[in-house]
Amino acid sequence: MMDAELHSLAIAIARETGGYLAAHAGDHLSVSTKSSPTDTVTNVDRSAEALIVRRITESRPDDGILGEEGTSRPSMTGVRWIVDPLDGTVNYVYGIAAYSVSIGVEVDGELAAGAVYDAARGHLYEAVRGGGARRDGELLRCSAVTDLALSLVGTGFGYAKDVRARQGAIVARLLPQVRDIRRIGSAALDLCAVASGQLDGYYERGINPWDRAAGLVIAGEAGARLHVVADPATGRELTIASAPGVFDALFEAVSQ
Ligand code: IPD
Ligand code: CA
Repeated sequence: MMDAELHSLAIAIARETGGYLAAHAGDHLSVSTKSSPTDTVTNVDRSAEALIVRRITESRPDDGILGEEGTSRPSMTGVRWIVDPLDGTVNYVYGIAAYSVSIGVEVDGELAAGAVYDAARGHLYEAVRGGGARRDGELLRCSAVTDLALSLVGTGFGYAKDVRARQGAIVARLLPQVRDIRRIGSAALDLCAVASGQLDGYYERGINPWDRAAGLVIAGEAGARLHVVADPATGRELTIASAPGVFDALFEAVSQ
């Protein structure tokens, strides 16, 4: 019951915030940087996070919230919202139609529900544990591929130069082993694409909880195999979501 209520609220807030993002796309943005000169944040990222926090708080004032743009509120209920108000900020700034709002909900430390709104295309992806994953109401199933060589694999790159150099070396090794690579620019949309079979797999090192929380629920409920484990050398987490038939091969190829 509780999961279902949280799921509905996540959907309502993702839709509203996605509408806000789409309405402001193309506005004159105030752009500043965070961890590196290419790690971008805009006034829209911040105001979208404020909108999400306001909506969660109106309905559930005692829940915890972790947001990419700085919200960090402890939970008094065991429920925690993990939110990325604008995933794909660089695409948003450049006018590329691949950005989303991502809202995941944890109950007692376990991911329970998620909603990702693909704001430029107007598609809603959502899932609740045990209830399957849907895009605009239609049940999703990840791909049935069994051969890594025939797999379309999404990935992404962080903002720090040293991290990118390592990510580049791994992608260079992977490229001859797969159908092709996609770098969509929103980890949340990558995970939804695994859920819908538009990607056979996705992996990335170093993404944050807000990039993946909702997408992991959606991909997992669509039948994807999931893996989130910290690299003992760097402490950075490797996230993998893929069709079960190619998971082992993808894991092997990207985990060196
Ligand atoms: C980024 C996107 C991108 C991924 C980066 C993320 P942001 O999030 O999800 O696809 O490769 O690792 O930081 O900065 O657009 O919210
Ligand atoms: Ca993000």
